[in-house]
Amino acid sequence: MKIIIINGPNLNLLGKREPDIYGDTTFETFFDSLQNKYPNITLHYYQSNVEGELINKIQEVGFDYDGIILNAAAYTHTSVGIGDAVKAITTPVIEVHISNTFARETFRHQSFISPNAKGIVIGFGLKSYELALQSFL
Ligand code: DQA
Repeated sequence: MKIIIINGPNLNLLGKREPDIYGDTTFETFFDSLQNKYPNITLHYYQSNVEGELINKIQEVGFDYDGIILNAAAYTHTSVGIGDAVKAITTPVIEVHISNTFARETFRHQSFISPNAKGIVIGFGLKSYELALQSFL
């Protein structure tokens, strides 16, 4: 099984970005532990701060991989383009968020990803990614 985690803007700063909200673990550390825990899954990781690069990656993997775990971060709430890309592909997408976006500012309550996601995991910290992964198994 081939799964990719795609992270959007500012998630490269995990570990030092607002640790009270996002925790103090870097994504690389977390990703290594996830790979070790699920050795039978081919797990890839991609991060970009650039909207078009995220769309390019979704298109590139979206007809071939078995699953996409997508945290589009702030673009979740703004990007018609990423929402359209998720709709265009055949690979199922699970939308994830580290924080509970519904417990935060109202502009975080809207998602352009959700209508076309297979499922959504929100608010469990980095564990959100693992729960999404388990849903593909
Ligand atoms: C986030 C929530 C978004 O509202 C925010 O812009 C992020 C991270 C999360 O994982 O909690 O950058 O997607």
